[in-house]
Amino acid sequence: MQKNHKPQGFAIVTHGGAGEPLEFADGCANAARSGRARFLETGDPLDAAVAAVLVFEEDERFNAGTGSVLCLDGATIEMDASIMDTRGRLGAIAGVRDVRNPILLARAVADTPHVLLVGEGADRLARALGLEAARPVSDKQREKHAKLLKELAGSVPLMPGIDNRMFDRFWNYKTPLQLPKSAAHDTVGAVVRSPDGHFAVAGSTGGSAPSLLGRVGDTAIVGSGFYAGPLGAVAATGVGEHIVRHMLARTVYGYIEEGMPLQQALQRGIGLIDRGADTGLIAVTKTEAASCSNTHMPTGKIVQ
Ligand code: GLY
Repeated sequence: MQKNHKPQGFAIVTHGGAGEPLEFADGCANAARSGRARFLETGDPLDAAVAAVLVFEEDERFNAGTGSVLCLDGATIEMDASIMDTRGRLGAIAGVRDVRNPILLARAVADTPHVLLVGEGADRLARALGLEAARPVSDKQREKHAKLLKELAGSVPLMPGIDNRMFDRFWNYKTPLQLPKSAAHDTVGAVVRSPDGHFAVAGSTGGSAPSLLGRVGDTAIVGSGFYAGPLGAVAATGVGEHIVRHMLARTVYGYIEEGMPLQQALQRGIGLIDRGADTGLIAVTKTEAASCSNTHMPTGKIVQ
């Protein structure tokens, strides 16, 4: 029988990706509401974080799950996801191609003897667990891809701070390299505080577009895209190649450990990243819940 857990002291912050339109905030609010509802059922902040990310993965506007960006071949999708909490649960997957909800697979990894599964092994685990396979590529995904192809132009850097010629030299697709004017690198995420002082974080992404096949960003790397500890939980969004260099989530958690007010800690974290690289952070601590970005970033928040 379901228990009715009390919400006083509960907090959840969600984001739909740095650089995503603010009009998508309704999706972030839906995710936050779903997370809260799940918490009321189970009392587990990790369940709440996973439930919130599931909502994003089912909303095709976001670059995660069913809305994930296509690779330049127009057919391949490679997704990353992760979870972590203060009860010692840690799980991540990377380069997964055939799972409808990567966040459920990341959650399942936390119950295995491992913390990170990639590629075929991760896809096989999904089948073994009976998780739903990815849906066929949708018209929306194809439209997004067609738009990207249309914008192809070599004059604008593919990713902030990364020379286009790097891709030219190392490209590993059969299709010829074409360089886009704009690129995707969004993540979705949720951080949760429960009234009993536990914290959880969950994140999911279709990765960046374009990217080399096999590329993994920050979302699957503990301490970079996500971190949870006894003082709070932090999630990052933006260009993974920048975020991992600063182990951004753990670095910001370090500022929290030092006693820095949360908004200041997030701002300082954002300040570490090269300007021009869209970056965002969300976090909860024992007393605060906040977000910060160097660009537009839709978010949702419930604090009780
Ligand atoms: N932040 C998502 C990625 O770079 O893969």
